[in-house]
Amino acid sequence: MGDRPAGVIGEKVERIGSRERLLGKASFAADIDLPEAVHLVAVRSERPHARIVGIDVSRAQHISECLRVFTAEDVPGRNRVGIIRKDQPLLADDKVRCIGDPVALVAAETLEAAREAAAAIRVEYEDISALFDPEEALRPGAPLVHADGNLLGRRTVKRGNPEAAFKHADVVVERVYTTAHLEHAYLEPDAGLGYMDGSTLVIHASTQNPHYDQKDVAELLGLDEGSVRIIQAATGGGFGSKLDLNVQGFVGLAAYLLNRPARMVYTREEAFLCTPKRHPLTIAYKSAANRDGRLLAADIRVVGDTGAYASYGPAVLNRVALHATGPYELPNLFVESVLAYTNNPTAGAMRGFGVPQIAFAHESQMDLLAAALGMSPLEIRLRNCYRIGSLTASGQELTGSVGIRATLDAVAPQYAAAVRERNGTVSGHIRRGVGIGSMMYGIGNTGQQNPATAHLELTLDGGVVLYSGAADVGQGSSTVLAQIAAAELGLQPEAIRTVIADTLLTTSAGATSASRQTYISGNAVLDAARKLKEVLLTEAADMLKFDRAKVILEHGSVRAVRDADRSVSFAEIARRCHKLGMPLKWQGFFDPDTTPLDLETGQGVPYATYAFATHVAEVSVDTLTGEVRCLRVVAAHDVGKAVNPQGVHGQICGGVAMGIGFALMEEFVPGQTESLKDYHIPSAADMPEVIPIIVEDPEPTGPFGAKGVGEPALVPTAPAILNAIADALGVRIYDLPAGLERVLQAALSARKP
Ligand code: MOS
Repeated sequence: MGDRPAGVIGEKVERIGSRERLLGKASFAADIDLPEAVHLVAVRSERPHARIVGIDVSRAQHISECLRVFTAEDVPGRNRVGIIRKDQPLLADDKVRCIGDPVALVAAETLEAAREAAAAIRVEYEDISALFDPEEALRPGAPLVHADGNLLGRRTVKRGNPEAAFKHADVVVERVYTTAHLEHAYLEPDAGLGYMDGSTLVIHASTQNPHYDQKDVAELLGLDEGSVRIIQAATGGGFGSKLDLNVQGFVGLAAYLLNRPARMVYTREEAFLCTPKRHPLTIAYKSAANRDGRLLAADIRVVGDTGAYASYGPAVLNRVALHATGPYELPNLFVESVLAYTNNPTAGAMRGFGVPQIAFAHESQMDLLAAALGMSPLEIRLRNCYRIGSLTASGQELTGSVGIRATLDAVAPQYAAAVRERNGTVSGHIRRGVGIGSMMYGIGNTGQQNPATAHLELTLDGGVVLYSGAADVGQGSSTVLAQIAAAELGLQPEAIRTVIADTLLTTSAGATSASRQTYISGNAVLDAARKLKEVLLTEAADMLKFDRAKVILEHGSVRAVRDADRSVSFAEIARRCHKLGMPLKWQGFFDPDTTPLDLETGQGVPYATYAFATHVAEVSVDTLTGEVRCLRVVAAHDVGKAVNPQGVHGQICGGVAMGIGFALMEEFVPGQTESLKDYHIPSAADMPEVIPIIVEDPEPTGPFGAKGVGEPALVPTAPAILNAIADALGVRIYDLPAGLERVLQAALSARKP
């Protein structure tokens, strides 16, 4: 540790790219333009489920600036995309499965002409009965959204003997919870530009996963992967939606077939209409405890609507089942989660993959059990939370970083103070409430390989360049990765140059998803840095005629431990390596240690490490209007180690904002919600005071002990707020969002004798 500069890990570091963003100099995909670029507009289905009888493009072709109309027949390769299941046509072939399904793509000289031509295209449909309810979709004889059936998938998790345990329980609580479709509402609507560079198709895109985009675009066009280059543009948020292809397939198709640059920029309405949503879930949750508040058993059945296409549905299915207990020991368990295809908008990845929904249910249950036992919500959580040696729902023994207890302890003083304050505040129709929400979150993909690679290069002038495929979508992964490399090499983070998320220059880091980049790419970078460091030390020792063990790295040079004057610079070492014909670039690799889940019991090791958190929310509820104000959120997060605490604080504040939206206002109504005019997300005025508390229970397998925080930041907020509303009213709300009407209804029912 002696040769690590103090402060690189755990120090506030200015986020790479933030200055450019603040000065308006960052190039987002819509800012990247070429004068000769054609404009693309998609013709989208207005029917939820229909066979395509014919597409009449004749009127469009008469518009002078319209260059070409593409339909499914024009797709040269495999007209199917999809992250996990290839079930989604780029352009509809035989039928449409949801409103917004792309049927044709217009290329024109101007955006106006493209829009005009798109509007002039007539599609003849033959309607098929449409499904809008997942339970209906699963009934025998229901119309088929896809030929092989409406069941996207089913995951079960089984432990112990829940039936027997329920019989012996002192208290049993059984409720049904529902959540709505949500829109990600990232600031930057999807956009991209494609062009041919010789025989290579280059696409600048707003994306969370350039290496996945590369594969899918290549397959769509029947090209080798090497002929497609994806470059991530500055990206204004993704939250899961930019894991799917959005415009990449369209700009790729047009640029390749027209041999002209092609650009496409979604309007806000289009992003609302046709990008994936959060899965609405119906959760039937039965849980039981003994008199001491120890959880005995749970029976949890979840049915969700994945909409027209699979997207990340299979991942949501697994995560919901595996996280259904929350961070609590539960020896007897039956969980079933099922997702069905319908003709609603596709639901996909959205910050947490179903965990925010299931956490709302498990945290409501914890409070209900506590109330039934006359126990405090904090106490019941302390009695059941995971510790070292606990077995998770999948039977995984927790051996590393298990900071859930520490997060509960961290918020305990504020929780007690808030309860005292609430008791002292009784003013007419305004009620105060305090609630707790806890959670756990597995870092990385579920029970499958999801490696990252990274490279470090020593340049001849002694500089270090970090190459990583990890898309930084604003969360700050590039900064964290640079810090990790810098710390290992005895440099300041500014000394590391970064080359990020360009499929030609970087190798895959996997998706920016599942809160995985700090842990997984961080470890890959650390691996590369260790290899580079070893060479630096060995070569320097040789040059200095010192024992290898007696030299250390410091500020871009290697020196003798006891004699600062005896040193060689990185540049000198680089030139020597170069002369000797030694490589100057090192690859790092990391793949978390997981095992696949048993198909029937869901047992296995799905994640190498877990993040934990507890939020305390204080709310005021106006019982005359139903208005809820979230006044304060105390948010304690066990992140293992905060590599960049400023980034962690940013994630926590952003997560709280998103959690408030999920709890109180956000609801996307398929077929109705059009844009931000009728989809309300929290504004600055809705933000409470947020008190982030970083808890560091170091993860032995993490880079410098780090785990992750991106998705965990959001998960506990809504449960804490809903528990606070129940605390204020004495009546609980089971359906999200808890908007004015639901809260008012609850307040009215509370007033009844
Ligand atoms: Mo996220 S739901 O892993 O982008």
